[in-house]
Amino acid sequence: MEIQLWKQTLRPYELAVDELTLKFNHIIKEYAQEGVYSPIEQVSGRVKSVTSILEKAQKKSIPIDEIEEQIEDIAGIRIICKFVEDIYAVAEIIKQRSDMEIKSYKDYIANMKPSGYRSYHIIIYYDVETVHGKKRIQAEVQIRTLAMNFWATIEHSLQYKYRHNIPKHIKEKLNSSAEAVLLLDKEMSSVHREIMDAQNSFVIKDNIVSCILSNIQNLYKIANKKEVMKIQNEFYRIYQEDDLEQLESFNKQLDVIAEGYRAQGIS
Ligand code: GTP
Ligand code: MG
Repeated sequence: MEIQLWKQTLRPYELAVDELTLKFNHIIKEYAQEGVYSPIEQVSGRVKSVTSILEKAQKKSIPIDEIEEQIEDIAGIRIICKFVEDIYAVAEIIKQRSDMEIKSYKDYIANMKPSGYRSYHIIIYYDVETVHGKKRIQAEVQIRTLAMNFWATIEHSLQYKYRHNIPKHIKEKLNSSAEAVLLLDKEMSSVHREIMDAQNSFVIKDNIVSCILSNIQNLYKIANKKEVMKIQNEFYRIYQEDDLEQLESFNKQLDVIAEGYRAQGIS
């Protein structure tokens, strides 16, 4: 990195952060459109400021011209999940993608840092196309739960406030709250299945109801009005009972009725 050209140097990193943020947000959208539970809750990204880059280079004795290779988090993406299980699902998604190549990863969830920090980090290689051609850059993807993020955000502010010399009594509080966060994530994991199931049954119900409604709509065109009104009332009754099996069998009945009318139409 040439210091006098730092703005130009950082431009591809800005592009990468924009693209990666968009791509991970799109994953959330695709899951929503398919009515499937998304392991990603929120995405954010940032490009490291030039001051932080120089500070880190100085601290780690990194020569100026090796900054881009050695500082892996100039582009940073943070992915927030609800549950610990989701973190590994996101890591798997990244692994499967053809536009992101995994350079390395650090699992601070299996191996919590002494500070109490927990998170899953993946360093990826990512290609951006600029007006000067293709450039392969590195980006750090931090994946953590909402609870882990809460802790890390507070701890980061304290590190900042005390310039990395957090007083002992506050450190102790951070340690015990890290334990509490660990417990919270564990407790939440035990309801993980339930949330996914609830979401799935909602999607199933949604699909059946759509089928029933389009069946009724079609019957309006071909069946006699009285009969369709009867069917519609029956649908309201079953719908209120909130019983998936009843809805399913009602839908099958409608299929049979519609099929009957179709057969009549043909003959
Ligand atoms: P850095 O010099 O910080 O990049 O350390 P490193 O190269 O050993 O990488 P590491 O994976 O330890 O940390 C990368 C990033 O994770 C940091 O820049 C922070 O954003 C975050 N991080 C790591 N440890 C802590 C911690 O103890 N507290 C908080 N709040 N964040 C942390
Ligand atoms: Mg690092």
